[in-house]
Parts: sequence; structure tokens; C-alpha cells
Amino acid sequence: MNKIQVYPTPQTLAEEAAEELAGLAAKAIAQRGKFRLALAGGSTPRLLYERLAQASYLEQIDWAKVEIFFGDERCVPPDHPDSNFRMANESLLGRVSIPPEQIHRMRGEIDPALAARAYEAVLKAAFGSAQPAFDLLLLGLGEDGHTASLFPGSTALSHQKHWVTAVEHHRPPSPLVTRISLTLPALNAAREVWFLVSGAGKANILRRVLEPESETDLLPAQQVQPASGELVFLVDQAAWPEGR
Ligand code: 6PG
Repeated sequence: MNKIQVYPTPQTLAEEAAEELAGLAAKAIAQRGKFRLALAGGSTPRLLYERLAQASYLEQIDWAKVEIFFGDERCVPPDHPDSNFRMANESLLGRVSIPPEQIHRMRGEIDPALAARAYEAVLKAAFGSAQPAFDLLLLGLGEDGHTASLFPGSTALSHQKHWVTAVEHHRPPSPLVTRISLTLPALNAAREVWFLVSGAGKANILRRVLEPESETDLLPAQQVQPASGELVFLVDQAAWPEGR
């Protein structure tokens, strides 16, 4: 059963999410000695990341025991305006003291297939051959129902063996995009998954995601069904479908 938390504004969503994330971090560090957090890209998470970089969380979260991963990355250099790493670094990572060796960036600047294989090796080194059980995986929701860089109709949705894949997505008139993305087996291995959904533009797709029209033709976001983890939608009022 999905857990849904609706907040009045994007700001209150970020404030409450930061509090909850700090609690999850403390619990994971107490139980396992570290908090393994996979970050989402796009624009929605920025408010949460900026909130977490504020002074109150510098003490509340033991950043030295936080290990950072990414759900996906655009195939651009890390200083490119489109880079998910750049967004996370500007809003959070460059402002808290996480040991650099604990920040695992997807290398968008190299050959995508090579970058995917390299990142899979990073995950194997971090999690062993077990599943990549992130303590918390943050995801966004695209207006077409994509999440991470798993787009509707993509062959990447059927990958079962690999945890990371290179993705090409072309939806004219938009240009072809090349990405690196975690696959569904990796996403569904997380101990807890949060969809951060904000803005009126997401209300229609959120309704579709929460009210599947069929059990078979599932959107990528609907295929995020953690094997044993918790799935939570953190939504602002503007994105909350009318009449739900
Ligand atoms: C990306 C993200 C992508 C994003 C959604 C929502 O690299 O863009 O991984 O899945 O989360 O497209 O993006 P917004 O938060 O910008 O609406």
C-alpha cells in the first residue's frame, strides 16, 4: 500500500521531508553505521537539498556517515547546467562535510555504456553481491510517468540482470537524450523509496500513477514497487489530483 503525504506548499514539503530524512539517517547510522542515500535529479528535489544544507541539519545529520549515490544522470560533464550531480553539488553536497570517497557520481562525461558498467561496479563494491538496498532512494516523476531515466516503452524497463544501464530516449520534437539510470531491480531493492512530486503540472500524471487503468500496461513510475521497502509519495497541494 502506498503511503501518501500531502503538504500545502513546496516549501513545507521540503521542510517536512528534511525532518523525516534526518530521522531515517539517524536510524540507519545507529543500526548499520551509515546512511546510504540515492539522490534524484531534475528540479523538484532542489528545495529539499537546500533545506538539508542549512545549519540546523549540520548537527542533526552525521554527514561523515552519509554515503551518496544517484538514481540517474544525464550524459553531460559534471559542471554542465543539465547535470544532476551539479544540481546536487550546488544545493547540498558542496555545502556539507561528506567524505569525497563517499559521494558516488555517475560519470556522465564518458561513454554511457562504460559509465553504466562502472557504476554497477561501484554499487557492487558498496553493497556486495546482495541487492543495492539504499536506506533511502529519492525519485521524481516525469509528466509522462517516467522516473529516474526509465521512460515509457523503454527496453531498459525489462532489464533484470543489471542494476545500471545506458538509456537513449527520443520523443520528437524534443532532442534525443542519452542518460545513465538505475534499473527497476536496483530501484526496487531500496529499504525506502520517496517520490517527490510538486506543482500543478504533475496532477494528471500523479492521478494516473495512483489509479492504474490496467494491471498490465504500467507506467515506469508504477513499476517502482519496492520488494520489501516502504513506498511514499510526498506531494504538494498543487500536484494533488482534484477530488482524490
Ligand atoms: C532527471 C530525473 C527525472 C526527474 C523527473 C521530474 O534526471 O530529470 O531523474 O526522472 O526526476 O523528470 O523532474 P522535475 O523534478 O524537474 O519535474
